[in-house]
Amino acid sequence: MIEDLKQTFLNELGSATSAADLFQLRVNYLGKKGTVTAALKTLSSASPEDRPLLGKKINEVKQFIEAELDSREASLKSETLKKQLLADSIDITLPGKYTAFGREHPINKVLLEIVDIFVRMGFSVEQGPEVEQDYYNFEALNFPKEHPARDMQDTFFVSDDIVLRTHTSPVQVREMEKRKPPVRFIAPGKVYRCDADITHTPMFNQVEGLMVDKNITFSNLKGILEAFLHRMFGPGTPIRFRPSFFPFTEPSAEVDIGCILCGGSGCRVCKESGWLEILGAGMVNPAVFEFVGYDTEVYSGFAFGMGIERIAMLKYSIDDIRLFYENDIRFLGQF
Ligand code: PHE
Repeated sequence: MIEDLKQTFLNELGSATSAADLFQLRVNYLGKKGTVTAALKTLSSASPEDRPLLGKKINEVKQFIEAELDSREASLKSETLKKQLLADSIDITLPGKYTAFGREHPINKVLLEIVDIFVRMGFSVEQGPEVEQDYYNFEALNFPKEHPARDMQDTFFVSDDIVLRTHTSPVQVREMEKRKPPVRFIAPGKVYRCDADITHTPMFNQVEGLMVDKNITFSNLKGILEAFLHRMFGPGTPIRFRPSFFPFTEPSAEVDIGCILCGGSGCRVCKESGWLEILGAGMVNPAVFEFVGYDTEVYSGFAFGMGIERIAMLKYSIDDIRLFYENDIRFLGQF
């Protein structure tokens, strides 16, 4: 009879699948009103001779049932855990999700490099409007009306006296109107000219520079530009000044550096000359000082201007300016 109990238990254990099933079995067999407990209670009515053996047997069965339930519970627990871990697992061998990182645009990179060099030399950074009055873009820079120099600039007109600025020089006039010397700043920004080929885009960037004070001479201009060009292109870079013309500077110069691509021996980029034109510069024309009310007997100054795209093209050996503005990330990702 006690053997039957064991067998019945084993059958029921076999069909138990959950923690709840196992708990129910434990109650049914070992609980206060459980079958094993009931069997133990019958001991008192057994004959004294049978009692020890019967007691031993019932206790064996009790221990057996307990041990079985314990081990089934333990294995059920670890199975559940295993299932859970498996469901939560990630396959670390799967390819990752690719996140594209942005990069600094090559033009901005070169621009910031230029700004950085001048800021270290004590220049502040100023800005002006891109849609500009004729007065600031031309008139106050000593381009008289009908002056042929205005034609050199391929101007986009918004109206008769409003233009898209053709250079950053109007910022000179705006700043000088605002403050008295000493003045020392650079003005980076976008400029516009109606021109498009592999070295020209209708929009491009310039950096203007202006320094005005007492006793500013051409030597100061040469010194500042040499310091800048040597930091930008390397300490040994040859520099030369050629006479030129701008209405707002007198005397004026074009500044060249020894070709950084061929080292001066002559190549396609420097058109076999060994030199690259990098910027325009000169001593501020007193006529400009008259427009902003600076005393031309007391103050003198110099100005310079350069194109960022051109410098970036030379620096990175890029032969088509349009690449900068096509937003092809295969190109932009290289800088
Ligand atoms: N503004 C001139 C240009 O765009 C460059 C320049 C600036 C020349 C300052 C001299 C002094 O061509």
